[in-house]
Amino acid sequence: MSGSATGTDEARVLSADAEEMLVRAAREAREAAYVPYSGFRVGAAVLAESGRIYAGCNVENASYGGTICAERTAFVKAISEGERGFLGVAVCGDTPTPISPCGICRQFMAEFGLDIPIIMAGEGEARSTMTVRELLPAAFTSEDME
Ligand code: THU
Repeated sequence: MSGSATGTDEARVLSADAEEMLVRAAREAREAAYVPYSGFRVGAAVLAESGRIYAGCNVENASYGGTICAERTAFVKAISEGERGFLGVAVCGDTPTPISPCGICRQFMAEFGLDIPIIMAGEGEARSTMTVRELLPAAFTSEDME
């Protein structure tokens, strides 16, 4: 698909189609979640500027701190394929209501754009969308090191 988002400097708005596609990809990715410790399945999907969607799940570890969240799995897949620009992200929990990205994932995503819209979803119909900037106000970024 083509990257169907509008706007450049300000928060981007995904088309309803793109949003649907991302949420569906995140839900599907959740099926592969490796969660022997928490049993809490999460899926995420990112839409890159190339138009490609990369999806990922959470991957847990016996050393709990080694766990990787679904959002970071999806981003790392995209970045390691050469993607650098992102139009939107969906994250989907096994929960009745939408789940919200953890602090580490907020910081991770901030590296690639404060205006990326994050669609938060769960099992139900309810969704909520916030930008990375809204999720992580006063973010520390590369600009702080100039
Ligand atoms: N988790 C995610 O994958 N993404 C989030 O946004 C929140 C938390 C995972 C990490 C861990 O495998 C499980 O959910 C419980 O914290």
